[in-house]
Amino acid sequence: MSELELEQLVCEYRTELLGTDCVIPRFGWKLRSEKRNTRQQAYRIQVADAADFSRPIWDTGRIESDHSIQVEYEGPALLSRTRYYYRVQVWDQFGRQSQWSTAEWWETAFLESSEWKASWITPLDNATGTVSPPVSMLRRAFSLKTAITSARIYATAAGLYEIYLNGSRVGEEWLTPGWTSYQHRHQYQTYDVTEYLREGSNALGIQLADGWYTGRLGWDKQSGHYGKQRAVLLELHVRYEDGSEETFCTDASWKAAEGPILFSGIYDGELYDARKEQPGWSEDGFDDLDWQETIVAKLPYSQLIAQENWPVRVTEILTPQQVIHTPSGDTLLDMGQNMVGRVRLNLHLSAGTHLILQHAEVLDREGNFYTGNLRSAKQRVEYIANGEGVATFASFFSFQGFRYVKIEGLSGLTDTQLLQGFTGEVMHSAMAPTGQFQCSDERINQLQRNIVWGQRGNFIDVPTDCPQRDERLGWTGDAQVFIRTAAFNYQVAPFFGKWLRDLEADQRLDGSVPFVIPNILDNNAANANEGQTNTSAAWGDAAVICPWTQYLCYGDERLLGEQYDSMKAWVEYIRRQGDNEYLWNTGFHFGDWLGLDAKENSYIGATPLDLIATSFYANSVRILRDTAVVLGKSHEVRHFSELLNRIIEAFRREFVTPTGRLAAPTQTAHVLTLMFGLVEGQDRERTARELNDLVVNNKYHLTTGFVGTPYLCLVLSDHGYHDTAVRLLLQDSYPSWLYSVSQGATTIWEHWDGIKPDGTFWSDDMNSYNHYAYGAIGDWMYRYLAGLDMDEKETAYKTIRIYPRFAGGRLTSASARLESPYGAIESSWIEEEGRRTLEVQIPANTSARITLSGAKLGRLTESGNPLTDVEGIGAVQENVEGIQLTAGSGTYRFSYPLESLEV
Ligand code: BGC
Repeated sequence: MSELELEQLVCEYRTELLGTDCVIPRFGWKLRSEKRNTRQQAYRIQVADAADFSRPIWDTGRIESDHSIQVEYEGPALLSRTRYYYRVQVWDQFGRQSQWSTAEWWETAFLESSEWKASWITPLDNATGTVSPPVSMLRRAFSLKTAITSARIYATAAGLYEIYLNGSRVGEEWLTPGWTSYQHRHQYQTYDVTEYLREGSNALGIQLADGWYTGRLGWDKQSGHYGKQRAVLLELHVRYEDGSEETFCTDASWKAAEGPILFSGIYDGELYDARKEQPGWSEDGFDDLDWQETIVAKLPYSQLIAQENWPVRVTEILTPQQVIHTPSGDTLLDMGQNMVGRVRLNLHLSAGTHLILQHAEVLDREGNFYTGNLRSAKQRVEYIANGEGVATFASFFSFQGFRYVKIEGLSGLTDTQLLQGFTGEVMHSAMAPTGQFQCSDERINQLQRNIVWGQRGNFIDVPTDCPQRDERLGWTGDAQVFIRTAAFNYQVAPFFGKWLRDLEADQRLDGSVPFVIPNILDNNAANANEGQTNTSAAWGDAAVICPWTQYLCYGDERLLGEQYDSMKAWVEYIRRQGDNEYLWNTGFHFGDWLGLDAKENSYIGATPLDLIATSFYANSVRILRDTAVVLGKSHEVRHFSELLNRIIEAFRREFVTPTGRLAAPTQTAHVLTLMFGLVEGQDRERTARELNDLVVNNKYHLTTGFVGTPYLCLVLSDHGYHDTAVRLLLQDSYPSWLYSVSQGATTIWEHWDGIKPDGTFWSDDMNSYNHYAYGAIGDWMYRYLAGLDMDEKETAYKTIRIYPRFAGGRLTSASARLESPYGAIESSWIEEEGRRTLEVQIPANTSARITLSGAKLGRLTESGNPLTDVEGIGAVQENVEGIQLTAGSGTYRFSYPLESLEV
């Protein structure tokens, strides 16, 4: 019999989880089996503190269960700073038994923040909190008695830090410790530094910059949102060969100096003077006599948490595509892609050469360098050479959003030398890629690439609105509209898990959710909307929509439980806002932000604010009710069901005429009403018909903004107007998804017409070329066009739904692939030579419900065989739509003649 195997074991979503404070980690594994219809019958997990499993600390024995994701550890209490190994064995329903999986590991950090022994320290001259002083260098030499077997560093900063040990940079993480609601939750990182150390003398060095903590954040130029003083905290734990341990901590014995980075800021870039380098500064034997003292900073420990998110890394290196000499005389590098990260230079430069790099996303109509849309963000990196060897440099603590780099201060280099002298380092939270989509229209494939690049560029530890101007903030509305698409393209569970805990931490006492998470806007009175709370419908709803989406995509019931109070608080907040508790018709709202039906000079689309607010209220209450069902809170299920009914009644009274016409004649009003199930029966049909008319009468163009756009194609496809949805997607004149593609976009724009057909720009004050919100169409492309979806009654793709909505000949193929928690799923169709063929891959331990539109029983084959009695296929039904069948795991190839469609 063929083999049953296990692969890709994970602990808390990761294969090698170094440094967690999770006390009940969850395991997952994937089954591999060539045999169709394989289901897990039972599993066994062992956990040990040694790789040979000679003395497991936990052994489940054989457990009869098909659970293979989110399986909780139930062994003895875990210890801090300990590596644990785990392995799994499974049985299937055919009686096959797998070998033990390979052993994987995870390692705990400090399970209690009270275990920290180190002191927060700050350079003496930084203690007064001057604005943006040069980046500090801190150092300390130390000695190891004998050889060691292992060593770990635990470190964080109020600011951004990086560590050097004996002259080598530790780890591949950047922008550590990441950005959280630092007052409540402050991440530290764990590094395995065993290989960096040696017996005898060693030295540690730290560079410490402002970053999000003390640096400038927000468009009002305010800095020091979390504190005025940078500080760093580090512990090095070594274990000697004899088993004893020694710890080296930051304390006031460390010395500090100013280094070559004279300035560094998230928005503004960096200024590096290589002449001020101090060679050997992080090595033993360096003379630090003229370095300054450090002092202990009074910062708390209770908010310290181990790293939760994927770290930010350099994930790809781009080479410039061409050198452009602009009409106004500038020399530019064109990276060929609007990217986020930094430029690295690699050039021989004579001493004193002062190189200035400026970064921009687009060129203007004349082909000149354009930075107007950066507002006050400088995105400027300067490097002064010391003339010693090849200068290799990239900014340490800043990132830029750019396609074009303007180079000043270099003369006499040929274009070829310029092209060879620079690379672009793409940086983002290093989430594993999970999804792929493609189809027969190359323009749509470019759109998909733009969506993915938009996600990469804006997932830099928090989901930002944009990566270039003086904003780069975790706007809740943007995150909420994009999360489902995001979860196709990448594994985003740790990313959004972390951000949602920040959301809960920053949620106000009255339950309102700040505009941005981490919330830095409340600190500044200038941002207050005339005394209103800074919260808005469709933005604050991220508190409810995002945990639910995580639950659907990853089966993360724990997160749902953890966020439940936050979700409830948001709904209770809304309930107190309206004139009556069932309508939300007060307060400030962003509305259908950037909707094209907005009044002249307004960003807020024409759809009534109270309609948007009330419909999102209903949606959040519905999700909360469903959450209460999942969490077994039956009393609250009744409560929220009742509340939902009342809201729907109130919505209808307020916004639907007695004959079923929606009172607001906008596309977005119709979209939300349908999407959130606010009308039924004939009213629903009418609303859908009228939405379709609105689109058709607008010559297949949308008018929707942030709020309506994500759902527009979904509701059209769901209500019999799929062809209109396809035509909207394929539309390439303004406004449309393909308009920006036709203009050469390589990311998603904030505005449908960021660059107008005549080449002029939308106004400078709000015009990002890398905003993922409209990329939310990706969700529909995966689920509807390619047909890769789940049955939401069972989460995480345990029951897969394969249901491609074909494109009436407008596309001849579409395919999607998703690395789901259970394994790879694929749905891929092609129409050629009069036949339609659908290839499907269903991972072991899941099953699928497959709809083959237009297929007829006698004419459908699977891998060339008639459908009767095909291994793996269960119930088959024929109806007006076509054929519905269920299938177990395996790969299938269905095929049927296209003419059977014309019935
Ligand atoms: C951001 C948005 C955000 C909006 C609030 C903008 O400045 O870039 O994407 O949601 O403000 O309306």
